[in-house]
Amino acid sequence: MTTPEELANTHSKSLINLLRGWPSTSLLTVSLIKQATQNVLSNPTVSVPGLLYGPDTGHPPLRKALAAWLTDFYEPAQAVTPERIAITGGASQNLAGLLQVYTDPVFTRNVWMVAPAYMLAFRSFEDAGFSGKLRAVPEDEEGIDLGFLRREIHKSEEKAKAEGNTKPTFKPARPYAKIYRHVIYCVPTFANPSSRTMSLSRRKELVRCAREYDALVICDDVYDFLQWPADMKTERSSLDKAVMPRVVDIDRVLDGGAARADSDGFGNAVSNASFSKIGAPGMRTGWVEGTEKFAYGVAQTGGTWSGGAPSQMSSTYISDLLESGALQSHVLRTLQPAYASRYRTLVSAIDRYLAPLGITLPQPDRAVVGGYFVWLHLPDGLRGAALARRAKEEENVIVPEGEMFEVPGDEEAARFGENVRLCFSWEDEDKLVEGVRRLSAVVRRMQRDGERAGSRPQTGAAREAKHDLGAFR
Ligand SMILES: Cc1ncc(COP(=O)(O)O)c(C=O)c1O
Repeated sequence: MTTPEELANTHSKSLINLLRGWPSTSLLTVSLIKQATQNVLSNPTVSVPGLLYGPDTGHPPLRKALAAWLTDFYEPAQAVTPERIAITGGASQNLAGLLQVYTDPVFTRNVWMVAPAYMLAFRSFEDAGFSGKLRAVPEDEEGIDLGFLRREIHKSEEKAKAEGNTKPTFKPARPYAKIYRHVIYCVPTFANPSSRTMSLSRRKELVRCAREYDALVICDDVYDFLQWPADMKTERSSLDKAVMPRVVDIDRVLDGGAARADSDGFGNAVSNASFSKIGAPGMRTGWVEGTEKFAYGVAQTGGTWSGGAPSQMSSTYISDLLESGALQSHVLRTLQPAYASRYRTLVSAIDRYLAPLGITLPQPDRAVVGGYFVWLHLPDGLRGAALARRAKEEENVIVPEGEMFEVPGDEEAARFGENVRLCFSWEDEDKLVEGVRRLSAVVRRMQRDGERAGSRPQTGAAREAKHDLGAFR
């Protein structure tokens, strides 16, 4: 029970929003973009094509500059080429595009979502006709539980066979595309929300599993560049090489690679990436990397075919920033140290205020951490939903409960009632500490009250309303 004094106290407390997964306004690339826009707008050879419809695969200089940067950062076995890249309107827009080109709501049996899952992706899958076909795949400390996935995907195939589901129902055959039987959706590095990184061996096994079952692995690789050493004592706060090859890099070379003789050349993995977290989300620009055939197919979706790649003008600015090296340096010298500092401040506050109450973080032993989030597990069956409600009511702190990240329609397969997610990108460091201190006060009161009750989520619109998913936006 909240005492009247505690409630009165709430109203005098400033709001702390640990839910919003946006970049800090202090880290927006204003001066860089100002310079880039001046460069572009004073050069008609760039500004004129920038202001017209562009090529379907996107602004060629951006594809070229990106290919060089990705090669430098990921150090793949073979250099990334511009032909492997198509420019998109960001990861969210492109998720919808991928589903339009590469899936059929009947022939594609299921969408397998590593859970807890990025909750704002659910609607894109439902829009593409996959309502009722979303399946949760649990994670362990190494990432996706492949034993579970293999068992369930096998059952799904048996069912499709029994039903005679042998060819696409709604999508016509197209020379530039194929329809996959399954989609596997994940955030392999610094996941949203679990903050976990999938191990190398799981990435390899995931590619093998995808090939076996004709699945497309869609990887939202949107946090890869935001990384730093996990060691809280090191001075070092930036890292210029990726912690791990992407799933798409592995698909390119593993066991003969995506270009092997018995392959159709589309591959089984795609990297769905974005400038939102490393540039500015308002630019709405991203890129997709896959095999050449796959990248070309993405660029043939109806919305792109009529009008060319999205975000054409933004692409010219970003291209300018990459060609000069300004964006690479911003990521390394500004963003990584700034987010490392926020992360370390948040985790120190968690160690100080929440760990003594029994709250834990996943993957405590890894060498490199990153992204925007930490994922907390509550002690003694305390409910995340109850903590989120009381944190807002009693302490004016907003946190999302773990249930928001359960896969709609398959909540039973992976439950997160005892979790909450904290975001460290939006609020400043003093507010991160104060937010954690206030949360600890709520947890102590919950433990005092013996509060364990929390309601379960529902599916579809009711679920979206209940969790107020709009508040994320
Ligand atoms: C996993 C994941 N995918 C996609 C997005 C959105 O990316 P974009 O702004 O490029 O649409 C986010 C942002 O929170 C995210 O966490």
